[in-house]
Amino acid sequence: VKLAEIDPSKLSVTKTTTPKDLLPPEELVFGRSFTDHMLSLEWTASDGWLQPRITPYQNLSLDPATCVFHYAFECFEGMKAYIDSKGQVRLFRPDKNMIRLNKSSARIALPTFDGEALTHLIGELVKLDKRFIPTQRGYSLYIRPTMIGTQRTLGVGPPGSALLYVIASPVGPYYPTGFKAVSLEATDYAVRAWPGGVGDKKLGANYAPCIVPQMQAASRGFHQNLWLFGEEEYITEVGTMNLFVAMKNKETGQNELLTAPLDGTILEGVTRDSVLALARERLQPKGWMVTERKVTMKELADAADEGRMLEVFGAGTAAVVSPVRRICWRDRLVECGLDDHSEAGPVAQQMKDWIEGIQHGDEEGHPWR
Ligand code: COI
Repeated sequence: VKLAEIDPSKLSVTKTTTPKDLLPPEELVFGRSFTDHMLSLEWTASDGWLQPRITPYQNLSLDPATCVFHYAFECFEGMKAYIDSKGQVRLFRPDKNMIRLNKSSARIALPTFDGEALTHLIGELVKLDKRFIPTQRGYSLYIRPTMIGTQRTLGVGPPGSALLYVIASPVGPYYPTGFKAVSLEATDYAVRAWPGGVGDKKLGANYAPCIVPQMQAASRGFHQNLWLFGEEEYITEVGTMNLFVAMKNKETGQNELLTAPLDGTILEGVTRDSVLALARERLQPKGWMVTERKVTMKELADAADEGRMLEVFGAGTAAVVSPVRRICWRDRLVECGLDDHSEAGPVAQQMKDWIEGIQHGDEEGHPWR
């Protein structure tokens, strides 16, 4: 028997009879308020994907024995929709999120799906809830596709049923008062991801164990963890974001923008990919080296000590970029190239401007929209 694929032509739409009030943009808190509707698709091992449904945003009803609650059969995506300068709704690089969600899902024995079909359905949801998308620069609709195993069993095995649902939350700039450079604690006592693990997948189970180390860093006055790996103390990610470092290369003296390679421990960030692509297209011709390579914390500290450190920033969908002021490593502070009255280095600022410009439609016909 051939299992059914997602069929957007079978979409049923039930509109809300109690539309929500819109919050004033300045009151938006990341991920706290949601639009009127949600998209849901059920899957069963015997039939495949059932009819897609858009319904009023509502609670799920699940048996307490449902496998997602016991064995963490859950993966998700974060992506954004924008209103462009012509008033049209645009998704930013949704193909990337669909590929990654399929990889995450397959890794935890949940079903895969046709990414173009789901993108089409997400398009229907965001068009229906278009009034929630703020139009100002830096504002967007954060979209959260989520897949869970729904089989009612405490048996440990591949779920026989799943639910793929999509909710959406209007969001403002991550830093409403403009960039705020963060300080990091280089974390060596806890590990976010490891070779052969699932750190390159967007599983909910990767996030919960990072909160206690984050609270510990916060108790010592640092905003986020810089996740180190191994005896070599390779730098991997920052908080929930990919990490970029700009420094003068020790051998060549050239400006170098670098980030950790996709070795299985690094999330394949869409913003990471966008920063790399823009750097190769627009900075490399100006003499920059753009590299994906392993870098140790010592190499970073040496660059700071030798005056070769330019800047450090995180890159992710939620914040786009997040500049770093300093890193606490062992018993010292490594300064990351920002002077006291500046909150972002030129590369972070340029990347934010380029990416937001593309998202909001400044660059006519850009393929990422
Ligand atoms: C990011 O976009 O940087 C994230 O990882 C999203 C976060 C809310 C899980």
